Amino acid sequence: MDRRRFIILGSAGSVAVLTGCGGGGGAATPPTGTTPPPASPAVSNPPPATPVSPLTAGQPLTDLVRLTNTSTTPGVFAATLVAQRASKSMLPGTSTEFWTYNALVPGPLIDVFEGDTVRIRLENRLSQETTVHWHGLPVPPDQDGSPMDPVAPGATRLYEFTLPVGSAGTYWYHPHPHELTAEQVFRGMAGLLVVRSRTDPVPAAIEERLLVISDLRLALDGTIPANTTMDWQNGREGNYVLVNGQYRPVLTINPGQSQRWRILNATNARYLRLALTGHTVTLIGTDGGLLRSPVPGLDEILLAPAERVEVIVTASLSSQASVVLQALPYDRGDMGMMGSSSTTIPLLRVDYTSAATAAVALPGALNAIADLGVPTQSKRLVFSSGMGMGGMGGGMMSFLIDGKTFDPARIDLTSRVNELEQWTIENRSGMDHPFHLHGTQFQVASRTRNGVTTTEPYLAWRDTVNVAAFETVVLKVVQHQLGKRMYHCHILEHESQGMMGVLEVVD
Ligand code: C2O
Ligand code: CU
Ligand code: CU
Repeated sequence: MDRRRFIILGSAGSVAVLTGCGGGGGAATPPTGTTPPPASPAVSNPPPATPVSPLTAGQPLTDLVRLTNTSTTPGVFAATLVAQRASKSMLPGTSTEFWTYNALVPGPLIDVFEGDTVRIRLENRLSQETTVHWHGLPVPPDQDGSPMDPVAPGATRLYEFTLPVGSAGTYWYHPHPHELTAEQVFRGMAGLLVVRSRTDPVPAAIEERLLVISDLRLALDGTIPANTTMDWQNGREGNYVLVNGQYRPVLTINPGQSQRWRILNATNARYLRLALTGHTVTLIGTDGGLLRSPVPGLDEILLAPAERVEVIVTASLSSQASVVLQALPYDRGDMGMMGSSSTTIPLLRVDYTSAATAAVALPGALNAIADLGVPTQSKRLVFSSGMGMGGMGGGMMSFLIDGKTFDPARIDLTSRVNELEQWTIENRSGMDHPFHLHGTQFQVASRTRNGVTTTEPYLAWRDTVNVAAFETVVLKVVQHQLGKRMYHCHILEHESQGMMGVLEVVD
C-alpha cells in the first residue's frame, strides 16, 4: 500500500516524522524538503512530549504479586479484586495516580489449576462502571464481565466459574465496560491469570518467569494524560514500555540454563515484535495452552495486543554481556507520531550469572491438540475504516466490523452451540487489527496476504489473532456454551469506539 512519510511540526516546535497511511482519502499531498510545513490539521492534538528524566531502569525484575486464595476448600480459589485508584512515584518528585486492581500495576497474579472453581468478588471503588473480563477463559457468558454486565461505582459482584480440564494456559483479566475499556486499561487495570495442569509436560526444573508487558504514558508532571485524537485513531502507545510494571528491569539467567517465559502483551495498541539479542527462542505455547510440540529456532515472535506466548529461552554456555529482550520495529499501518514503527525498544535486560546450569531437555510431544476438523458452517467478517467524526475524541476515522459500530442491543451473528464453524476475517483497512473472540479458543487455518495464502504451520489454541492490513485470516471455532459473546478488535481504542459485535450462541 501507499505509505507516505512527511515531516510535521510538533507542538513544542520539534520536528517529527509522521508515517501516513494511504487510506486517508482526501489527504493533501505531503510536502517534502527541509523546511517544516505548518502543522497538519490531522494532528491538531498531538501526544505530549516525552518527559526528559527517564524512569529508573536496571532494577531486578520483581515477581508478580500473587492474589491470595482465601478459601480453605481444596479446588476452590476465592479472592477479592478491588478496582481502586492508587498513587505511585514514577518520575522523580512527582506522583502518578493509576487505576488499579488491589493498588497494584499490573494487577495481582491469579494462579490456579484446571478443575478449580474460581470465586472472585469485585469491589468497584472507581467513580465509573467497570467489569472484570476473563480474557480467553471458557467461562459462562454471564460471568464473563462483558459490557452487558457492568458493575456500578460503589457496587460489588461475585464472578464464579469452574476451569475445565484442558484449559491450562496463559490468560489475563481486564475491565470491559462499554466505551470505557481503553481508558481503564491504559490507567493500569490488567493482570495475568495462569491456569496450570497437574500433568504439565514441561519439566519443573525449567524455571518459570512471568512477563506482563504494558504501556505507560506520563506527562512531565507525572500524570497519565487522556487520549488524544490520534490515540483514538491509532490506539494509544505510551512513552514507556514496562515489564511487570518496571522500566527496563533485569532478569538473571545462568549460563546453559533454560527458562520458561510466559509473556502477555497487556498494552492497548502496541505490537511487540519480540527478539532476544544473540539468541533464538523455542515457542511452546500460545494463548490457550501448549502446542503439540516445540517450535525451536525462532529469531522473533510478533505478539499483538492481548496475545500471549510461552517460550523456552536457553542461555548459551559462555557468559554473554548485554543480552536484551527488545521490541523490534513493526509497521502496523498507523499514523503514529511516537516513532514506534521505526524504533527498537529495549524491554528487559538479561544478565548472565557465573554459575552454569545444565539445560533441561523438553519432551517432543507437549499437548495432544487435534485439528478441529471440517467446518459445517461458515461466517465472514469484514474490518474496515471510514472517514467520519463519529469516534470518541473527535477522531477522523471510524472503525467498523461489517460496516457497523457496536450496539449492545443488536445481535450481529448467531452460532449453534457445539457446531464447528469456519470464520473468515477480512481486513479491508490499511491498519492491522487484532481480532479477539470471547468464550472459546480457536485454531487459525490460513492467512492470505497479497494474494498468497499460507497454511498455518502448526496447530495452536488462540483467542486473539492479528489480521494485518489487507490480510484475510481463516479460523475454525466452536462455542460450547449458550449465550451472548463479544468479538472485537483488541486495539482497545477501537474496541471502545465500537469495533465490536455480538455473537449469540443458540441451541
Ligand atoms: Cu481482552 Cu473482549 O477482551
Ligand atoms: Cu476477551
Ligand atoms: Cu483495530
